[in-house]
Parts: sequence; C-alpha cells; structure tokens
Amino acid sequence: MPATDPTARPWLDAALPVDTRVELLLAVMTTAEKVGQLHQVANLDADDPDDVATLVAGGVGSSLYASGATAGNERDPGVRREAVDAAQRVAVERSRLGIPVLVARDVVHGHRTVFPIPLGLAASFDDGLVERAAAVAAGEAAADGVRWTFAPMVDLSEDPRWGRVAESFGESPVLSGRLGAAFVRGLQGPSADDLADAGRLAGCAKHFVGYGLAAGGRDYDTVSVGENTLRNLHLRPFRAAVDAGVATVMAGFNDVDGTPMHAHPRLLRDVLRGEWGFDGVVVADWLGVAQLVDQGVAADAREAAALAITSGVDVDMVSGAYAAHLESLVDDGTVATEVLDASVRRVLRLKLRLGLFERPYAATSSPYPATSEPTDATRAVALEAARAAHVVVKNDGVLPLRADATSYLLTGPFVEEGEALLGTWTLDGRGDDVVTPSAAFRHRLGIADDATGERLWVDDGRFADRVQQRARRCDVTVALVGEHPWRSGEANSVTDLGLPPGQLDVLRALAAVGRPLVVVVYTGRPLDLGAVLELADAVTVVWHPGLEAGNALASVLFGDVEPSGRLPVTFPRSVGHVPTSTHQRPTGRPIPAAHDRREGRYLDDLTGPRLPFGFGLSYTSVTYAAPTVSAATAPLGGSVSVRVEVRNTGDRPAPELVQLWLRDPVAQVTRPVAELLDWRRVTLPPGGSRVVEFDVGTDAFTYAGRDGTARVDRGEVVLLTGPHAGDLTPVTVTVV
Ligand code: NOJ
Repeated sequence: MPATDPTARPWLDAALPVDTRVELLLAVMTTAEKVGQLHQVANLDADDPDDVATLVAGGVGSSLYASGATAGNERDPGVRREAVDAAQRVAVERSRLGIPVLVARDVVHGHRTVFPIPLGLAASFDDGLVERAAAVAAGEAAADGVRWTFAPMVDLSEDPRWGRVAESFGESPVLSGRLGAAFVRGLQGPSADDLADAGRLAGCAKHFVGYGLAAGGRDYDTVSVGENTLRNLHLRPFRAAVDAGVATVMAGFNDVDGTPMHAHPRLLRDVLRGEWGFDGVVVADWLGVAQLVDQGVAADAREAAALAITSGVDVDMVSGAYAAHLESLVDDGTVATEVLDASVRRVLRLKLRLGLFERPYAATSSPYPATSEPTDATRAVALEAARAAHVVVKNDGVLPLRADATSYLLTGPFVEEGEALLGTWTLDGRGDDVVTPSAAFRHRLGIADDATGERLWVDDGRFADRVQQRARRCDVTVALVGEHPWRSGEANSVTDLGLPPGQLDVLRALAAVGRPLVVVVYTGRPLDLGAVLELADAVTVVWHPGLEAGNALASVLFGDVEPSGRLPVTFPRSVGHVPTSTHQRPTGRPIPAAHDRREGRYLDDLTGPRLPFGFGLSYTSVTYAAPTVSAATAPLGGSVSVRVEVRNTGDRPAPELVQLWLRDPVAQVTRPVAELLDWRRVTLPPGGSRVVEFDVGTDAFTYAGRDGTARVDRGEVVLLTGPHAGDLTPVTVTVV
C-alpha cells in the first residue's frame, strides 16, 4: 500500500545523516524487500507487466540497461531518460517504501561523446585529461537517467590475445591506478559529497581481481596467480581506485587458483573491506553468482546465492539467484540476517549518497537537455584525447606530412568509417557523429567535401591491384589498417596478433610501389607489427579513437600538433612471445639486455619485445643525460630527488614523457626487473633543454613481502630514467 503521509517515511528527511536514514529504512523493511535491493535486473521496462509487478512489490534494487551478456560488442538502441524515468516512477510512487531504483549502464569511454578506448586514453599518460573525459561522460549519461557505470576497468593486462586489454589502462599498476583514480574522480566528482550532483555517476572498479591473467588470453578463463603477483601488481590499481573513493567494485568472472572471485571471502572481505576499508557496494558480474554452479563450487543456484553473499557479493547482477533464494536462506538461518542487512545497508547508502531519494527523475533533476548531443566543448575534449592517444612508433622522415605535397592516397577499410572508429563498449555513441579520416583529410587539404582525385585519392583498398595503381600516381600513401572494434573487447580473444586477413597483402602491394608509405594502425590490443614496421616508412598506432578520430589523425600526421602518445602496454614480437611485460621478475640466469639469439630464450627469435612499454616518437629527437640524485642515501620515511636533463636536439617542439623506473635488487621476494614509478610531461622547444626533477619518497619502494604485508627495506634501490622501458639509465640510492 503506497504511503501518502510523508511523516510515515522519516528516511525522506534529507537533513538527517545518511546512516540514520539508512537505519530508519532498514528497520521497516521486510526480508523480501531487503532481498529486492540486492537484485539487479536488465532493462527494466515500465511497459512490461512483470517488471511493474516486481517494482510495486519492492523486488528490484537496480537495473542495468544493456542489450545482453556481451553488450560491448553489439549495437544498442540507446538508453532514454523517458523510459528510465517511467520505471523509476513505478518504484517511487507505487511501491510500499518508495525506494528509487539505481540505473546502471556501461559508460566505459564516453556516452554520446566518445573518447578513445581506455587503452588509448592510457597512451596519453595524462590523468587530468582522463578525469575531464570521465566527467563529460558522467554528465551525458546522467542526463539519460543513468547514475551508475561499470567503469573504470583496472585489470592489468599483459596478454594481447585477451580482447579486454582494449578496456584496460595497460599493464602498469602505477599507470592503471593513477588513471583509474582519475576516472573515478571524473565520474563521481573530486570530493565524496559530489556524488549527490545530478550530473555525477557512481563508478565501479572492475573486475576484482586477476581477470587480466585469464589462461591463454581466453576470456573468462581460469587464473593461476600467487600472492606476490596479486599483491605487488594486480591488487594495486584497485587499491588506488578505492583510495580515490570509488563507490562500487565488481567481482571478476575468473577464479584465483581455484576459488572463484564471486566466492572469495579472503579477497572480497579480508583484503578489500578489511585491509583497505572499502565500504561501498560489491556487485557481481553478469550471471556471475549463478555461474558458481558452472565453476563447480556450488551444486545449484541456492548454494551459489549463499556462497556469494557470505563471501561478500552484495548485488546479484541479473542471475536471479538472490531473488529466488535469499529470503528462504535467511529464514532457515543459512545466511545470517546481519549478512543480508550489511549488504542492503551499502546499497541504500549509495542511493542516498547519489541523492536519488530527493531527485529520482532524470527529467527534472539533470542539468543537461533531454538528449545530450556532443557539443563543441565535449568534442574539444574528445579531440584532445584522440590526439594524446596517437603513438608514432616509426618515422623515417616522411612525417609530418606536408600539406603542399601534390597528391595523397588515403586507403584502407577505415577511410570512410565512423562507427568502426568508436571502439568497443560505445553503447550510446553514434557513427554519424564521428569525423571520418577522409573528411578530415579533405578539410585539412582544403578540398571540397565530395571531391577526390588530383590532390587526394580516397580508396577503401578492397582491390589491391587498383589501389596499387593509384599509389603509383601519388606522392605519399597513407594506409589505415587494423582491427574492427568487435575483434577486441569482451569475449574476443585471438590466437593471431597479426593484422586481420588480407591487410598485409595490400600493404605489401603498396610498399612494392616504392613511394613513401605511412601506415596508421587502429587497434584494441597490441599487435605483432613486425612486417608492418619493415614495409612502411612511418607507422602510428591510434587505437580506436572515438568521435574526433579523423581530426586527430589529420592534425597529428600533418604536424599541426606534435605526437605525444606512449605505449601503455608492451607490443610483443609475436604471439609466441606472450606474455611479454615489463614486470618480469629476475631469474637466476638473466638474459643480457642487448642479446642475440644465442643468449636469448628462444631458438627462433629474439626474446625481448617488438616495441617496449612507454615507447613513442615525436617529430624531433631528444637526448637524456645520466640521472643524478640529491643524495646517495635516503632515510627510511624520507625522500630523495632524482634529476635528469633532457635536450631537444631537433627543430620541432618535443612533448617528451620523461619516465622514472625502479629496480629493487634485493628484497624478500623477487621484484620486477623494472617497474614504472612516475613520469613527467615536458615540452622542450627546438634546441631547448630542461632538468626534470622527481621527488621520490621511500614509500614509493613499498612492496608486499613474503607474508603479504607491506614493507620498505633498507638497502640499495636503483632508480632509472629514460624515454621508455627499453632505454633506461640507472642511478643508485641507499635507503638507510
Ligand atoms: C559483463 C562484463 O564482464 C562487465 O564488464 C560488464 O560491466 C557487465 N557485463 C555489464 O554489462
């Protein structure tokens, strides 16, 4: 029966503290209503009588809007504020307690304004930019009624076969942690109270934890990982997101050495909540609770529900196991009421923090218009991000292109593309909003929209013989190759890291012409670029860049802006080399840095990467002096400053990313051969130099020791500076 007297709902008093309001509400809830708060459904629909009945009964706490289990791979009709508000109205006005529903959607790298995929955003190494992009996404999604997104994904991914590397910030715990935290601040606002702003979203650090280690790079596969690797690598970006105040955490589909993450009390309760103090909501992944049966640790959905909630999973995403069984599990004492209440409290607290009780409807609360179209301002952020993501990995001097060259051939499957440049997980992005490469080239060259020929030939490259013929008549060929976004992302693993079928043949045909060849690679993962690097005069990696793909491409290739992106993940020489990450631990028989095949591990190839982590060129050259330290010793708890002089020896500006790395030669456990610690972006004018200084506290040397606890040791550490993981110069400091 709907309550009409507001005094009958004291929890609606916004002047009361959140926790008081939660307790007032909890005190009047039935077990069924409590269970309802932990039940997440997909695509709640006010026109569906079953959904309405569930809402009226208080049987649903949140709704995800997504087209299916692997929604990032599908086109989606989009989420509409009217539909969301209609369902909300049933919950608020017709259920006994009027608790609003929390509306969720995967807003992963933009909503209507689409930014580069997260791996591309990571190539910027720019947390301020990532924060601004996330804030734009939050505002647009909130305008459509969404208040919770399942992002950022902070799984470290070292295996390019795994399609979800596209959704990650790469392989470094420090980079992923810093960008993940920035993403959280962008979504939720810089301070905890900002979550109540109608233009903010609750974030979700996912997928806790180790999901990026799926065996063989096969999505959803099992994970075998020890405590050292978990604590010193994979848990760290989650810790950073928690420290940044992330509102929710999602459990991973994977197990950790035999214990599925939806049934892992040690990691969910002891580490996440106990050690780190996380008091937000833990949400299951799609069907993750019921899949405990498939994983072989629960006999049926009832057992799965009991196992998941007691292990620390608060919200059941769409499996229905909680809705079907939790009430009786509490009634018969299998699940303690306190366990249920603790989960419900967390959900209610989040809804109150979001201001949902005060402003349940997007139409009346959002500061944005009904349909949030990309604006000049949001496009400007998308352009900045797509430029910052652009990584030049080879340049024999053909770049930057000269706008006065007589003729260009622009070829490859992406030349006229919009939608394919958005990337995986772009549910509300529209291909029509994308500036295509050909449009941007025409604009840059001052050619009318529909004109082709003479100065610019545009050809999708379907006929290698025709395109070869055209290349003969042009000064420079720019070939746009790479993966369609649906080859990366969820459920899309590959065994071959080469270009998609046929593309290399076209590149060979173009290279055979003997004119300058620039190859631009669109990709959601590190590819084996060996043959491409041999064939082309210049190669750039641009990921899937989002709405401003074309403008970003033209502006970097023509040198209107200097290229500044750096690889946030190692590019292996071949799939047989995987995994190849910067975090290899030292062995008893190290491979010399500059090794040949006799000294390496493989008989048939060199052992190191094709392109190292952190690598990327500008249109000039930069030299590094040897680093120096302010003192040879640093007291435990103190700090030391590392200085390095960088010099631009060319005639164009250099946006250099000066990197600081760490090697800890003697510790309780083997530590990575080198680990990224920090970085600074400096822009050096032609001929200019600068001393870059890093202030390094000894807490930066913290690692988890043999018993898993954090420690900093006295003794030598090696700090290294340089332009990328493959070119670092050491200086030693002793912690005393
Ligand atoms: C499954 C994916 O693993 C997860 O990342 C996503 O947030 C959910 N589906 C919801 O779409």
